[in-house]
Amino acid sequence: MRLPLYALLCLLLLLAQTTVSGTQEGQLSQGNAECPEDMGITDGNTTYTDGLREGSIITYTCDRGYYPYPAASRVCQSNGKWTELRSKTGRLIRQPSCREMRCPSQLDFENGAYFPRLSSYSVGSTLIFECFDGYTLRGSTHRTCQINGKWNGTTPICDDGSGNCPNPGIPAGARKTGIRYRIDDKVKYHCMGDLDLIGSELRVCQESGEWTGTEPSCQYPFSFDFPTEVKDQFDASIANILDLTQRHKPKTESLARRLKIEKNGLLHIYILLDASKSVGQKHFTLFQDSIAAFVEGLSRFDITVNFGIVTYATAPKVILHVYDKESADWTEVLTKLRNRTLYRDHYDRSGTNIRAALHTVYEMMSFQKASYQLQKRNQIWSTIRHAILLLTDGKSNMGGRPKDTIIKIHSLLEIDEKRRDFLDIYAFGIGNLDVDRAELNDIASKKPGENHVFVMEDPDSLKASFEDMLDFPDFGDMCGLANESSVATIREKFPWLVHIKAPLGSDSCLGSLIATKWVLTAAHCFPFTIDWGLFSIGIRSDPEQTYSIRNVHVHKLYDYRKKQHEHIKEFYEYDIALVEIQHEFKFSKVARPICLPCTEATNRALKKPAQMTCNEQEKYLISVHDVPAHFHTASGRKLNANIKAQDQKDTCNNEISRWPDFENVTDIPGYTSQFLCTVMQGRDVAACKGESGGALYVDKSKRYIQMGIVSWGVYNPCRNKAYDFSTQPPELIRETPRPGQNPRDFHLNLFKPEIQTWLKEKLKGVISFL
Ligand SMILES: *[C@@H]1O[C@H](CO)[C@@H](O)[C@H](O)[C@H]1NC(C)=O
Ligand SMILES: *[C@@H]1O[C@H](CO)[C@@H](O)[C@H](O)[C@H]1NC(C)=O
Ligand SMILES: *[C@@H]1O[C@H](CO)[C@@H](O)[C@H](O)[C@H]1NC(C)=O
Ligand SMILES: *[C@@H]1O[C@H](CO)[C@@H](O)[C@H](O)[C@H]1NC(C)=O
Ligand SMILES: *[C@@H]1O[C@H](CO)[C@@H](O)[C@H](O)[C@H]1NC(C)=O
Repeated sequence: MRLPLYALLCLLLLLAQTTVSGTQEGQLSQGNAECPEDMGITDGNTTYTDGLREGSIITYTCDRGYYPYPAASRVCQSNGKWTELRSKTGRLIRQPSCREMRCPSQLDFENGAYFPRLSSYSVGSTLIFECFDGYTLRGSTHRTCQINGKWNGTTPICDDGSGNCPNPGIPAGARKTGIRYRIDDKVKYHCMGDLDLIGSELRVCQESGEWTGTEPSCQYPFSFDFPTEVKDQFDASIANILDLTQRHKPKTESLARRLKIEKNGLLHIYILLDASKSVGQKHFTLFQDSIAAFVEGLSRFDITVNFGIVTYATAPKVILHVYDKESADWTEVLTKLRNRTLYRDHYDRSGTNIRAALHTVYEMMSFQKASYQLQKRNQIWSTIRHAILLLTDGKSNMGGRPKDTIIKIHSLLEIDEKRRDFLDIYAFGIGNLDVDRAELNDIASKKPGENHVFVMEDPDSLKASFEDMLDFPDFGDMCGLANESSVATIREKFPWLVHIKAPLGSDSCLGSLIATKWVLTAAHCFPFTIDWGLFSIGIRSDPEQTYSIRNVHVHKLYDYRKKQHEHIKEFYEYDIALVEIQHEFKFSKVARPICLPCTEATNRALKKPAQMTCNEQEKYLISVHDVPAHFHTASGRKLNANIKAQDQKDTCNNEISRWPDFENVTDIPGYTSQFLCTVMQGRDVAACKGESGGALYVDKSKRYIQMGIVSWGVYNPCRNKAYDFSTQPPELIRETPRPGQNPRDFHLNLFKPEIQTWLKEKLKGVISFL
């Protein structure tokens, strides 16, 4: 049955209204036209999203190495007909077919020769390039046509170095005009036949000796990028934004675009997800998972990012404004991104309105710019960097040219050659469901040596390329990170753990690495004011990694004899010391700092806003009465304990009154006020003597934060307390307490204001406290 004409008119009106405003709610009524059975594709498969009903989409697929011609999909229209299939020249094609993939021909090659010269190159064929005398070849001498319809390697260029800019080369499938490469000279590219130009059509030689824009390439509509290529190129570009170039050397030198993002830097990332009908729930979920993997990868860096999230189809829907409070909270952002109802809840999925989606980004930016101006903080606004990630499965079919909005965004952010690093727009076309490359290229940024347009074969490839994104082996000086692999060594798993080797006759201790030259430990590890030179610091049982001590800073209020007049033998208030090492530790896989409370680094590790206070941090980390925490045995084994907090804190502390050693302690709250009281979990017994000074820490999403310093306990379960650190420390034998004895351990609480004050003073310029 056909729609009556007036209904169709209403539908068109509705569509027109929803183009840009993005506020239209409610569902468009589904038409009830029906299309005839499709003839299918020869040698391939045909699938329907919704049978023969109006709006149903047919997808054609071919075997690997083949592609559907002339298009990969068609839609059942309201007139009861499938969209027409036409060749690039406009010829009507009744039945699609699977054609063999091929690569573009090299049409021109300056100052050299290549062979074989064919009109078409199938997958597996190889092209060989040579330069004439006096010219040097840059790029690949041999290129092979790959199964994705692209040549491998890079464009070969024969150059004699006579220009101000290097010869920009001619990619396969292109013709170039402009043969002089002096300052202000221009070159222009044109792709032949049905090839789309990706990159810059026009490039100008600059004074810096660099061409403007990005190197062009000519791509067939059916070609696609391999996940590994996308990962490498996108990684390199993002790494540049994160100023990780020093840590993560890009593969080619030309990628070295150096940006400086301050640790509490100003990076805004806008994520635009296509929720149109052709995407479907399953693929949309893959989009969500891919982007979440990217955000998660990013969250491990010590940076603050504000996210904006928009889903779009006929109209856009803002899921998170970049200026919302939660936009800098990684946990919130990930929760929103992973929300499984996002697709289902998106109203009217019939169109793909990329322009309207970009317009919401423009609006968020304008709003922010205006509020920065209002607060007279223009300076700060101009230091914010913006990145837009657009994911789409097809071309925009309504709303007008996205390019116009891109121009508006450029002008709002005052992007020019000098400020080009302040905006990056990445366009991902997913599934060769008629992705419009030319349109993606119009939207995307063009920067030397970088790629901002990616065309993926399907959403699974997108996921594959995003999965281990930003997995850099070296995290610089970030705190509380460790190798989580089950096969990692103890040193890799607990890289902050150090031993303090005492001279013969006194107990050894543990400590935690907190900065390149600083180890945090307990004051009672240094019982006499003796020559510090007798002590040394070691990374677990590795004689090569022994460091001499320059100085030991024991808290001046630490005095274990302070309460002896009250007949209390030992008192551990202020049981804290900082050890300064002679030579700096070099951070590595086996030597990294742990995070300290009330520091900026810990706010970042917790993925919390930079403004979070020390008090809020404490409340967040100790939010229940049984906080799971860990500390280490002398041999490096991890033990599990619960910090007793809130209403269970006093009960835990009061337990000491049952032990004879503490019979003279009358003021228990005073005696224990600086400490966190722990109860062991499971079969673990208690801390032994040689384990003092080590970190009591918590694990928050695989970031480790020290809460206390192992100080004293009511029960020492270890018999063989003395051991020789020149050999592997033995696993101490722990004796279980008698029934009814409830061991409790006490750890100096690093959140205590008087402890914080001291740490701040000692570590000034080393660690930034809140
Ligand atoms: C077509 O479908 C059949 C059966 O489901 C499958 O074995 C084949 O691999 C598919 N071919 C393509 C090109 O997707
Ligand atoms: C291109 O692929 C061929 C065949 O797989 C390989 O031998 C060659 O080294 C590759 N070239 C480049 C530049 O990657
Ligand atoms: C998921 O999104 C819907 C709206 O699309 C919202 O109502 C719901 O609260 C969200 N769920 C979560 C867990 O954020
Ligand atoms: C973690 O440790 C394992 C085993 O040593 C190693 O194979 C892996 O590469 C390490 N991962 C990182 C990120 O260093
Ligand atoms: C408690 O004080 C008495 C003296 O008043 C003393 O004899 C005793 O040793 C003390 N107990 C401990 C555990 O120090």
